[in-house]
Amino acid sequence: MNNKKKICQSVLPATIAACMIAMSSGSMAADSDPIKVGVMLPFSGVYAGLGESTRNGLKQALKEKGNTIAGRAVEFIEMDTEAKPARAPEITSSLVDNQKADFVIGPVHSGVAMGMIKTIKGKDSIMIIPNAGANAATGAFCQPNVFRTSFSSWQTAFPMGKEAYDMGYKKIVTMSWNYGFGKESLEAFNESFSKAGGEVIKEMLVPFPKTEFQSYLTEIASIKPDAVFVFFAGGGAVKFVKDYDAMGLKGKIPLLGSGFLTEGTTTAQGPAAEGVMTTLHYADALDIPKNKSFRQDYETLYGKPADLFAVQGYDAGQLIVDAVTATNGNTADKAALIQQMGKLEIDSPRGAFHFSKAHNPIQTIYLRKVVDGQNTVVKTSYAGLEDPARGCKL
Ligand code: PHB
Repeated sequence: MNNKKKICQSVLPATIAACMIAMSSGSMAADSDPIKVGVMLPFSGVYAGLGESTRNGLKQALKEKGNTIAGRAVEFIEMDTEAKPARAPEITSSLVDNQKADFVIGPVHSGVAMGMIKTIKGKDSIMIIPNAGANAATGAFCQPNVFRTSFSSWQTAFPMGKEAYDMGYKKIVTMSWNYGFGKESLEAFNESFSKAGGEVIKEMLVPFPKTEFQSYLTEIASIKPDAVFVFFAGGGAVKFVKDYDAMGLKGKIPLLGSGFLTEGTTTAQGPAAEGVMTTLHYADALDIPKNKSFRQDYETLYGKPADLFAVQGYDAGQLIVDAVTATNGNTADKAALIQQMGKLEIDSPRGAFHFSKAHNPIQTIYLRKVVDGQNTVVKTSYAGLEDPARGCKL
């Protein structure tokens, strides 16, 4: 309960009128209204599966609290970004300026994230990114009112460069969709791979969201690198891993990736995914009590296994719950909320994490391998990896 409420409950009759005036203005009125949560995710297109998992996880965290925080109901306003950067400013503005959302959760796609950040800068809403990894979101474009419960591009690909070299691969072909996140992933992989002594002999970029991979795979077969490192996700990851197998490359040229390649996709990929090795801040089979209970509840609620995107959405929900609980339900004072958010430790299924000064998770990255359709942990690749937050002045 905030200070004004306490005053109202203890007033003498002579001051009741003044108290009622205070209640009808500003934050008091807002504190009895539902907490408004705008949700900007791809519910159609190549990232639709990621959007659905994220929303499921977000709602699971709120359901655990009976959909109320500190006595206030939570209202969701959902918008389909279609993973199209051009849609970001208009949708963000409608949630922030018209709907006066307290929080805006989204997006999945890095290009959409950059459009959202530019629009939400200096506004009275707090953005929580449950996926998009654009380094600048918690780097050169970091903002007090922007938090991320997922990762930076750098965090998910940098560890794999060293791992690949240690596995004995010296010459590698890299490949991804041709947009911010993909290019940053390849850059981060190359940073640690070349520092270790390896060489990226060819980088291939495919227009987003195209999934015609045959000509690229034919070229890889003729180059014969020691291994291939890629970023693809969602429907594109399913298609790529299946094509890699169908073109006869599996078993001949090891396939590596940042973990999105096998997140929420292994059922559709089937045997083609077996043995694929990736780095990520999560694995289905992580032996952490919170992960087990989270996955069990998710399966009961939605009838399918959870994946990383569900975890990140769940943690965005937990961040809202914990922060608004800490301010006793007051969402009007955004500076106070932001201060609480920066101090929280999130009890995540991936393992507890807290935020860097730039508002990005400091977290452990695992080397994983697909075994019987599950992302299993081979080893810890980096404990407590913090993004360098290049250019952030927070
Ligand atoms: C991104 O655009 O930042 C992005 C999209 C899908 C992923 C990971 C990152 O699986």
